[in-house]
Amino acid sequence: MSTPPRVLSGIQPTAGSFQLGNYLGAVRNWVALQEGNDAYYMVVDLHAITVEQDPAELRDNIRLAYAQIIAAGVDPSTSTLFVQSHVPEHAQLGWVMQCITGFGEASRMTQFKDKSARNGSDHASVGLFTYPILQVADILVYQADGVPVGEDQRQHVELTRDLAQRFNNRYGPTFTVPKALIVKETAKIFDLQDPTAKMSKSMPHGAVFLLDDPEVITKRIKSAVTDSETEVRFDPESKPGVSNLLTILATLTDRDVHTVVTDYDGKGYGALKSDTADAVVEFAEPFAARVRELMSDPAELHRLMTEGSAKAREVASHTLATAYDRLGLIAAGG
Ligand code: TYM
Repeated sequence: MSTPPRVLSGIQPTAGSFQLGNYLGAVRNWVALQEGNDAYYMVVDLHAITVEQDPAELRDNIRLAYAQIIAAGVDPSTSTLFVQSHVPEHAQLGWVMQCITGFGEASRMTQFKDKSARNGSDHASVGLFTYPILQVADILVYQADGVPVGEDQRQHVELTRDLAQRFNNRYGPTFTVPKALIVKETAKIFDLQDPTAKMSKSMPHGAVFLLDDPEVITKRIKSAVTDSETEVRFDPESKPGVSNLLTILATLTDRDVHTVVTDYDGKGYGALKSDTADAVVEFAEPFAARVRELMSDPAELHRLMTEGSAKAREVASHTLATAYDRLGLIAAGG
């Protein structure tokens, strides 16, 4: 039997709740990819600290993120589900990768440019600058074949490919060159208040947080910005708000967007918003209940984390040792 492809991905624990874009753009695909792949998923707490975090809040949010991944359908007995900082090899390989990255190359990463512009570049940490290179190490240390992410992570996966190839060319074949696995339909879920922008936790008014109360979720969706027409049509260029709602509804009800459109023949935007709100609540309610259940047993959650990181380290330590050796570093005795 041939070994199944390996997939790897991560999510930041920077907000208490995942937003709908995280789920539709990435985590939903993580769940699907458990079938037929050797899956590694993690909470990237070391990425979270590239901006200042309150320690008590961060601790809660790491547990909450871990619980949300399980509640979304990732099975920790099938997938390797862990916390990034529990596997020191990420930071260790991250250093190696920094040493083969050009300063100009790192400067071209658009997420850094956006984030540092938002906060003023004097306040941006060096960690925020090297953030994508830690992500490169996250992926390469598992020899991942595929990286299921949303569109905003494509550039980071491209950097991963470049650095893997560079290392392999200089030091001999060492790393698998991974591919981004991006689901076209849900690659970018848009902000409900500004449907030309990506839904993001940093713009909370246009985002749907899955752990919010159903009434809050419903209100958010019902007040989504649409357009001055009345016809429900899938046309992301000229009708971004309506098209975004159609994407959300179609995905959550496992239908093709064009099939969904036919349901709204002669009906207005009100019906579309109301059905979309219902579909999100139908997912979010049991999701939140499962998260609460998991959070009520911190010892079990911690046991799962420990088990996950032990499994992850088996792979990561092996890759790191090979990379160190290729570089000409001498293995410590003992
Ligand atoms: P993060 O925590 O910002 O987001 C987690 C995942 O959610 C996707 N996503 C979206 N997809 C569609 N529409 C949206 N509006 C939307 N918002 C977020 C993201 O694309 C992502 O897949 N750098 C990563 C975390 C990371 C990682 C990794 C990912 C660290 N190491 C290694 C893959 C492999 C990040 O900040 O994701």
